[in-house]
Parts: sequence; structure tokens; C-alpha cells
Amino acid sequence: MEIFVVPTAPATGSVAAGILAAVIRSKPSTVLGVATGGSPLPIYKALAGHRLDMTLIRAFALDEYVGLPAGHPESYAEVVRREVTERLHLGPANVAVPDGSAADPERAAADYEAAIAGAGGIDVQILGIGHNGHLAFNEPGSALDSRTRVEMLTERTRQANARYFTSPSDVPLRCITQGLGTILEARHLLLVVNGADKAGILADALNGPVTPDCPASVLQLHPHVTVVADEAAAAQL
Ligand code: GLP
Repeated sequence: MEIFVVPTAPATGSVAAGILAAVIRSKPSTVLGVATGGSPLPIYKALAGHRLDMTLIRAFALDEYVGLPAGHPESYAEVVRREVTERLHLGPANVAVPDGSAADPERAAADYEAAIAGAGGIDVQILGIGHNGHLAFNEPGSALDSRTRVEMLTERTRQANARYFTSPSDVPLRCITQGLGTILEARHLLLVVNGADKAGILADALNGPVTPDCPASVLQLHPHVTVVADEAAAAQL
């Protein structure tokens, strides 16, 4: 595991984008795993500045809410479209997000897992970490070998994500998320973490026991992990 500690959140974006740019230059058909939440946004902004040819890039999102109407501005499909697809000039058909408005979400989850495999797997997976150690929407208690599936969100995660919705009760109860086992199959994991409020959980994830109680602790099982953290988030490492 390599860990870069940089002064500020924007600097995490610059460093992570530099890593991604090198990968994309060496493999123009890179399959990217993209994450939502606030932490990765500086990466997408910085990567756009590299002005790479993204024509052949494919991207898979980590997760999606279940039950938001198609086109809802806070659905991850829309967030990824705004923050990733448009910003990085990806081909819209090359970007996939689990179908949270499918009539059969379980089937949509299985189809998504198959689509990732069909693309040859993910070359680099961008990750954030939740305050309770969640990765994607794998909440505490998720099996370390879990696959893409429908899950309930915890109240803590719903509260954390309420900032994006008009009312906290508008945050969906369920999601489709790549599993921890699915995420571990990506060939390179790139975790970006900002802020003092993540310092404790980052230390637990990287230095504590590998346990479903802290889903991000699975990072310790992967042979190629890069962590980019600002000084505040790295304070307890
Ligand atoms: C959401 C996403 C996660 C993300 C987490 C942390 O719940 N599903 O993929 O890592 O929030 O978000 P933030 O970076 O805004 O703290």
C-alpha cells in the first residue's frame, strides 16, 4: 500500500488525477471505477485539466440509490453524468451506473456485476470512505466477499447524504452497490480521503483489524492500493 499525504483537499485531487493520467496514457482503453460523494470531486476537476484523449475510456460507478425517478438530480446516474461524463468528455454510452429505477433491482444488480466482468474488470477504482467505514454503500456488517446487490442504507449514511436532498426523508432507503468482493477485484484501488472528520475511520481502516465492522478494512487485503489523504485525514495514521 502506498500513502500520499498532501496539505489540502484540492491537492488530493491533483495527486490522484496525476496517477490516473499516467494510467490512461499507458492504456487509452482503461476501465475506470468512479465514485460519488464529495471526496472524489477534486480528482475529476484536476483530471479534466490533463486534457487526455478519453474516447476509449469506459467507466463504472460504484453504486446508486434505489427508487429515485430516472433523471432525479441527486441520483448517482445524474451526478456521474454531470461530474464525470461531461467534465471528462467521456462517451455517454461508455459510462455505466447501476439501474436504481429498474422494476427488478436485484436483477439490475446481477446484470451490473456481469457488465463489469464483460468489460474485462476495472483497471483503477476510485474510492471514498464513509464516516462509518463504508465503501460504496457497503455498510458495516457487509460480507468481505459480497457481490453487487440491493442493500438498505444505514440511518447514519442517510443523514450524511441528506445534504444533497430537500428533506432528510427524501433520501432513499435502499441502494444497489458493488460488493466488497467486487471492489477487491479491481486491479488498482485509489482511495481519496479529506478532512479531520475522517481521520479516525481512516486509521481504523488501514491499521485496525480486517472486519465487516469496518468495510474499508478490506483495503488491507488488496495487493495494489494507493491512498491519497490530506493532512487532516491522515492525522491518526
Ligand atoms: C456515499 C457514497 C460513497 C462515498 C461516501 C463518502 O455514501 N456512496 O461511495 O465514499 O458517501 O462520501 P463523501 O466523500 O462525501 O464523504
